[in-house]
Amino acid sequence: MLDAAIETTKAGRTRLTEALLDNPGFGHIFSDHMLVMDYADGAWKTPRIVPFGDMPISPALCTLHYGQAIFEGLKAFHAKDGINVFRPGAYHARMNRSGARLCIPAVDHDVFIAGLTALLRLDAEWVPKRHGYSLYIRPFIFAADNYLGVKVSETYRFMVITSPVGAYYKEGINPVRLMTSGEFVRAVRGGLGEAKTPANYAASILAAEEAKKKGFTQVLWLDGVERRYVEEAGTMNVFFLMGEELVTPALTGSVLAGITRDSVITLAKDWGVNISERRLSIDEVIEASAKGALREVFGTGTAAVISPVGEIQHGDRRIVINNGKIGLLSKRMYDHITGMQYGDEPDRFGWCYRVS
Ligand code: COI
Repeated sequence: MLDAAIETTKAGRTRLTEALLDNPGFGHIFSDHMLVMDYADGAWKTPRIVPFGDMPISPALCTLHYGQAIFEGLKAFHAKDGINVFRPGAYHARMNRSGARLCIPAVDHDVFIAGLTALLRLDAEWVPKRHGYSLYIRPFIFAADNYLGVKVSETYRFMVITSPVGAYYKEGINPVRLMTSGEFVRAVRGGLGEAKTPANYAASILAAEEAKKKGFTQVLWLDGVERRYVEEAGTMNVFFLMGEELVTPALTGSVLAGITRDSVITLAKDWGVNISERRLSIDEVIEASAKGALREVFGTGTAAVISPVGEIQHGDRRIVINNGKIGLLSKRMYDHITGMQYGDEPDRFGWCYRVS
């Protein structure tokens, strides 16, 4: 499907000003247009682009009550000679995997890409030009039936909104501080943990608030059964460089399959780094730290990119990593991934999709 096929209603005049892109923060500002597509009678209907704006909803909208919804987050970058979207095919595939878990009908790959392309071409001026900034793209699907019984919805709405963003954390590329939660868990195997669905984020906010009150950036989640094995951190997957081994928790069903996580694993293999996806207990991390073998810890995420971790608190144990400074591998990953996104590094894996 070509973007010419996407029915478009343009906004009267743009809301864009230079000042808006100067210091956008994360997720407060929205571009002029959005993509909308409805599902009914067993099929997705024609997608359309309309001006960004509020939409009426019924108080009986089943998503408000039972949360049958999924979302994605990917980014567009201002490269030297055009606009790059990073790995849209991988995000589309994950969206449909999350959809399968939440009984939400799949969106066709070509429709997803054509919709994104048309939307980004129309709002191209909203992609910030400065390094470290990008246009965050938020596709999401929610159940659209107005009904109070718990059942699979028969209607859905797919939308894509976009938002110019800077760093997700106030720390930027400086190390964040994480703490484990003695009380709460995020997900268990067989639950929703590997789906990108609002419920996982709802499950995390109380513990995250408590962590913030204590001066930490996010929670380092341990598994929900034995409460020993590291899973992920707030809105990121996590990597630990211990001796010569780079370890990240295996995808066991309760961990989100991060696209940045996958990019890091691919690059690590390419660079000859000894990378393992395996179970990693917090005791092993503490032991490695005590032996001086814990060299670096970093989080990965679309919003967070590569976020070095300078400190982990587990109960009354405090682990300081690399003297609270960004490590060499974390920096190399950050530089390389952002370099590819801005078109400064060769795109050896075909990860950048050029929209203009
Ligand atoms: C992302 O990294 O894109 C996420 O989805 C995290 C988000 C909740 C801000």
